[in-house]
Amino acid sequence: MNVCVIGTGYVGLVSGVCFSEIGNNVTCVDLDENKINNLRKGIVPIYEPGLEDLVIKNTKEGKLSFTTRLTEGMDNADVIIIAVGTPEKETGEADLQYVEAVAKSIGENLNGYKVIVTKSTVPVGTNRRVKELVAKYSGSGNFDVASNPEFLREGSAIHDTMNMERAIIGVESEKAGQVLSELHQPFNTTIMVTTIETAEMIKYASNAFLATKISFINEIATICEKFNADVTDVAKGMGLDGRIGSKFLNAGIGYGGSCFPKDTKALIQISGEVEHDFQLLKSVIEVNNKQQRVLLEKAKERFGNLSGKNIALLGLAFKPNTDDMRESASIVIADELVKQGAKVKGFDPIAKETARRVLPQQVEISEDMEKTLEGADIIMILTDWDEVKNLDLSTLAGKQKKPVIFDGRNCFSLDYAGQFGLEYHSIGRPSLV
Ligand code: UDX
Repeated sequence: MNVCVIGTGYVGLVSGVCFSEIGNNVTCVDLDENKINNLRKGIVPIYEPGLEDLVIKNTKEGKLSFTTRLTEGMDNADVIIIAVGTPEKETGEADLQYVEAVAKSIGENLNGYKVIVTKSTVPVGTNRRVKELVAKYSGSGNFDVASNPEFLREGSAIHDTMNMERAIIGVESEKAGQVLSELHQPFNTTIMVTTIETAEMIKYASNAFLATKISFINEIATICEKFNADVTDVAKGMGLDGRIGSKFLNAGIGYGGSCFPKDTKALIQISGEVEHDFQLLKSVIEVNNKQQRVLLEKAKERFGNLSGKNIALLGLAFKPNTDDMRESASIVIADELVKQGAKVKGFDPIAKETARRVLPQQVEISEDMEKTLEGADIIMILTDWDEVKNLDLSTLAGKQKKPVIFDGRNCFSLDYAGQFGLEYHSIGRPSLV
């Protein structure tokens, strides 16, 4: 099949590459000339394991190409995928200006039947708007619109796409349903064909539910601390119930990233439009905002004043295997520590450049964990990178000045951490002092 993907951000690029990997001819379109030139040379603008190799391989095999010219991508396409950004407005509402601009351009250039798919996460009803715009600017009804939400996670996006657990296809015509089912067949997955509105809702409901699971376990963690219980065992015990499942029950410093924070706010906004007050989801966000500051609270309780303290932050990205810092708790934490007059150093194996742009200038950022740990009075673990999880705690115990550890990701078992006489505070587990 010939596929045109518009927008080479996370979702667009990964989907385009994976559709070419399963045997389609894919053209990725983006307005950013520099980005397109780099992609043609196999230079990928984001850090995502396995992505660059697949870009190079499929470009070489002639199944994947990049262009800034929309018509070059869409003229021969059977399927056009819209995967442009939907940033968050001040109100929490998704900003649809890029989706609408693309719909208009597709309309202006339509030259035969196409299935026009929205992959960007958009409010319920947006596909109707896309349909209106394409019809208006093409003066034709020779197309179908569809919603095909994406569930990939950053850091494992290629794996998640190639091994997708389900393909959700929201359509209003049988023909479009058939085309998109055929496109997804090689993924060997469960294909669910539904209405457009239902598909749009599945995406928001899924992300809101996962965010709820995280805030729920973080609340349980706070209570566990009061009763000297261990949240990791509580989560394990809960997870043994097949109805609950063990995934997304890791207590920590809250969720970040480009999806959960944005989509939860957008769903509250969408609910408000139909006069529903989504109280549960409001609490999920409130708990998450509090949770991002939990290590600051713990450090304040332990030390009172943090002014002049040498603090090492281990991990800055919102989760491992990505350089993405969007809505990362590390931003909230670094800002506050600098404000309090602490001397802050930050380590991240990948996100150094991104971190430099978003963290206060005073934070010394390094890709060398040893350097970051030098002279630390306090260590705060913010991202569970393998490098951090493999840290040999005996080396810290051997230091003249033993640092106090605040582990926001429960990277070490209490048995292991307890062997070295270190002061170790984690989330939802008894402190070792
Ligand atoms: C998420 C969804 O998983 C994905 O399906 C959707 O398409 C986009 O949003 P992503 O944001 O890439 O993906 O990362 P994810 O692995 O889901 O983690 C999100 C955040 O939740 C991270 O900050 C992570 O640290 C946190 N998290 C996750 C927890 O705190 N505890 C958990 O148990 C799981």
